[in-house]
Amino acid sequence: MLGSGQLSMSGGWTAYLCLASALTGLFGPAVAVKEHDFKKCDQAGFCKRNRAFADHVVANTAWESPYNILADSASFKDGQLQATILKTVNDAGETVRLPITVSFLESGTARVTVDEEKRQKGEIELRGDSKARKQRYNEAEQWVIVGGLTLDKEAKVDYQDDTQITVQYGPESKFEASIKFAPFSIDFKRDGDTHIKLNDKGLLNMEHWRPRIDASPAPEKQEGEDNSSSETESAETTAAQVPEAYPGEDQNTWWEESFGGNTDSKPRGPESVALDISFVGYDHIYGIPSHTGPLSLRQTRGGEGNFQEPYRMYNADVFEYILDSPMTLYGSIPFLQAHRKDSSVGIFWLNAAETWVDITKEKESKNPLALGIGSKTSTSTHWISEAGLLDVFVFLGPTPQDLIRKYSELTGTTAMPQEFSLGYHQCRWNYVSDEDVKDVDRKMDKFNIPYDVIWLDIEYTDDKKYFTWDGHSFADPIGMGKQLESHGRQLVAIIDPHIKNVDGYKVSEELKSQKFAVNNKDGEIFEGWCWPGSSHWVDAFNAAARKWWATLFKYARFEGSMRNTWIWNDMNEPSVFNGPETTMPKDNLHYGNWEHRDIHNLNGLTFHNATFEALKSREAGEFRRPFVLTRSFFAGSQRLGAMWTGDNQAAWDHLEGSIPMVLSQNIAGFPFSGADVGGFFGNPEKELLTRWYQAGAFYPFFRAHAHIDSRRREPYLAGEPYTTIIAAALRLRYSLLPSWYTAFRQAYLTNEPVIKPMFYTHPNEEAGFAIDDQFFVGNTGLLAKPVTQKDKETVDIWIPDNEVYYDYFTYDIIPSNKGKTVTLDAPLSKIPLLMQGGHIFARRDRPRRSSTLMKWDDYTLVVTVGKDGKTAEGDLYVDDGDSYEFEKGQYIYRKFILDGDAKTISSVDGEDRKKVKEGDWMKKMHQVTVDKIIIVGAPASWDKQEVTVESEGETWTATLEYTPAGKGRAAFAVVKKVGARIGADWKVSFA
Ligand SMILES: *[C@@H]1O[C@H](CO)[C@@H](O)[C@H](O)[C@H]1NC(C)=O
Ligand SMILES: *[C@@H]1O[C@H](CO)[C@@H](O)[C@H](O)[C@H]1NC(C)=O
Repeated sequence: MLGSGQLSMSGGWTAYLCLASALTGLFGPAVAVKEHDFKKCDQAGFCKRNRAFADHVVANTAWESPYNILADSASFKDGQLQATILKTVNDAGETVRLPITVSFLESGTARVTVDEEKRQKGEIELRGDSKARKQRYNEAEQWVIVGGLTLDKEAKVDYQDDTQITVQYGPESKFEASIKFAPFSIDFKRDGDTHIKLNDKGLLNMEHWRPRIDASPAPEKQEGEDNSSSETESAETTAAQVPEAYPGEDQNTWWEESFGGNTDSKPRGPESVALDISFVGYDHIYGIPSHTGPLSLRQTRGGEGNFQEPYRMYNADVFEYILDSPMTLYGSIPFLQAHRKDSSVGIFWLNAAETWVDITKEKESKNPLALGIGSKTSTSTHWISEAGLLDVFVFLGPTPQDLIRKYSELTGTTAMPQEFSLGYHQCRWNYVSDEDVKDVDRKMDKFNIPYDVIWLDIEYTDDKKYFTWDGHSFADPIGMGKQLESHGRQLVAIIDPHIKNVDGYKVSEELKSQKFAVNNKDGEIFEGWCWPGSSHWVDAFNAAARKWWATLFKYARFEGSMRNTWIWNDMNEPSVFNGPETTMPKDNLHYGNWEHRDIHNLNGLTFHNATFEALKSREAGEFRRPFVLTRSFFAGSQRLGAMWTGDNQAAWDHLEGSIPMVLSQNIAGFPFSGADVGGFFGNPEKELLTRWYQAGAFYPFFRAHAHIDSRRREPYLAGEPYTTIIAAALRLRYSLLPSWYTAFRQAYLTNEPVIKPMFYTHPNEEAGFAIDDQFFVGNTGLLAKPVTQKDKETVDIWIPDNEVYYDYFTYDIIPSNKGKTVTLDAPLSKIPLLMQGGHIFARRDRPRRSSTLMKWDDYTLVVTVGKDGKTAEGDLYVDDGDSYEFEKGQYIYRKFILDGDAKTISSVDGEDRKKVKEGDWMKKMHQVTVDKIIIVGAPASWDKQEVTVESEGETWTATLEYTPAGKGRAAFAVVKKVGARIGADWKVSFA
């Protein structure tokens, strides 16, 4: 769903006309983005200052960072170093005290936190009569961190003198933090080598509090402002009196700043935090989604092929976003990974304020004449946040898996999803009536197109009042919900954080009377424009507001909602049409009087959290996994549901650009992600729509969506051959659902990506580090490379290892080809999909209308025999797909093993666990069996007619059909009607 400006007509015509004309009057007609609607670094005072500061430092070799640890302040106890950094402010030696804590955690992660004593103690004066909190925002941790903070009692000081302290920590004390006092810097080492350096370049900058000195002769005074201070006397002397962080520092934006006609009063003055973090010997860095552009991040300081602007993280409703850009998008995860052959390290910058990251790479040559040989590249990053603490977690790897695991110990793992939510979602803005929904539902059946969820965008409401239905077009939501329910389908309805400001709307009245809304800088309820026109915003930072929010979702209260109704949280950056950069004024006040500036990037997460928790309490005794899609997110949002990449366009390059975006989400700890299939804006040509479905079938979150102005494009409207091809892509997704669900189980346990880029699965193959258009699915060995270009009938796929690969559809063999690119045929009807040898994965092949209807279907196992001709392994996780009973052991987890020497395939319990008393679901699973086993690459010695099956004390035979190898095709064998229970141990013998 889009944000500012573009409005169009449908449904309630009159309401639209009023709103549209009102908005057109305010903002003018809106056509396309709009880069200029969003700040560049030099339009954000703090970013401009810190970049200029960096330029100054880099240009002055004699520069010395003015931050020094007071040697006798340093004390180390129980895994934690405490000290005070003194920042020297001017030549007169004036200093500012900055308490620093370096925590060494049991997980081997180190954390560096720096605060500012004066603000910590609240000993500052605010401009005007601001009610804002005086501290730097210190509650991000409360929202983001859910564990992993136990201190490492084994960490020990290895060396200490007046100039430095060295701490050994981590697994087998292999990690080391070498903290230098003057100037302050930290080198993080693993096995004696430095991998990460903080403040090596001297870009640390904590803008300390200072009293305001009015520079203008006629300063505009705010009521109650302290104007008795002698410093305000003369504008002439001001410049000399104000210490500069660097010569010529631009101080114009210290106390007030305007952009696009909006003025930000800054009651606390300048308070940015910035730091350089260098990755020594690392050439590739990944992460900090969401951005368009390549998975392996670009440099940002200009030069050929580089960006000019830093990567920006300031969650915003970026209308019609552009590709290949470091511009901000709807959500942010400030988790960054550096990678090189044999090593991965990373950092997590825990700061919820607007943040920019500059990236530069330097070649260091040991021998300057060696020209490339023996030279290595190092990457430096410069992190710049507008406010808040300096709070950075340092991960020393050494593998990409370690990084994600450690990061997820802190921020949590992916929620176990509702199983249906891995199926296909049919959405558009808007299905215009309950009859329309029922009609689409019937047509999907008529054309044998599986889907699980149909979605309602904003038009279902009565005049954009959430928790209500338009009485004319949605007169019978229950009848609609029941039709969907009758074949296991679901409804998702949109509910946004802006609440229509109108009398007689109960939700609005309660919001106001209980003071649960966000306030403006004067502490009065904030009013802005969004879909409903004049609106207020729920302040989900307030626990009482969240509790109230939960009451609104009770079945009894949200009439027309049912057990198969789920929620979509859009516009939660938040999008405010008439706000600066389409969001809230930064000086708005949230619960606890934190400024919006402090918490902006967390805003979406808190609202998502409130809705998630609400869905858990819709009815007493109901305890089901919520499904809530969010547009805005932060680190930790993976615990709450799915995200999508926002308002993309029906264009080939947007299809192509979606894959690195989704991969970036996957390696940044929030794998439940996808892009709008078909493209939100515009009308995709049929070939594009078809290719997009084929790609979408491999997004962890698979939803088609379309703008209100676009033509209808449900799959059955595409016509032949497109409809059939799209349906086949959907069937492929549905047959593989057991494997997708198993991949999500892994994401739930360890936050493994659900789809994995090459650097992640093959961290030692340098040629794969920049590849971001092909990926593996979970641990299935399925390697997909969707076609993302027009008229393409072949794709080149990079083979990362010496395993044998088989074509998924034909069983053609791609022989050992490590590091080579092979060309696959990819006519429109085909998705380029390979199977890596050595795996066993599960499918359910019987075509059904929805995933719910597949619940009791038998399984097919696909075995891809490895290059040694005899081994393969895989797993399957199944539970009821809906409740939290799995937490009590109500699930099936099997490991499948092919033993070529013994000529057996067996199924064993996938983990050591106690037998549980079987609940209803597990009992019912007794009827579910393994139907078929397909062995691709089966040796010729398996050319038999029969196999023996042993399970649960019984032995029987099953038929085997063997097909010898053909031209370029692997031999394969199919065991039919295996008949063993999926939940039981069994063994199939080919001997
Ligand atoms: C600020 O100056 C005005 C004009 O001189 C004066 O009336 C007012 O009392 C002063 N306010 C304070 C807080 O000193
Ligand atoms: C939602 O937020 C509350 C308050 O911070 C927290 O207790 C709860 O665990 C959060 N829920 C999830 C699923 O993260």
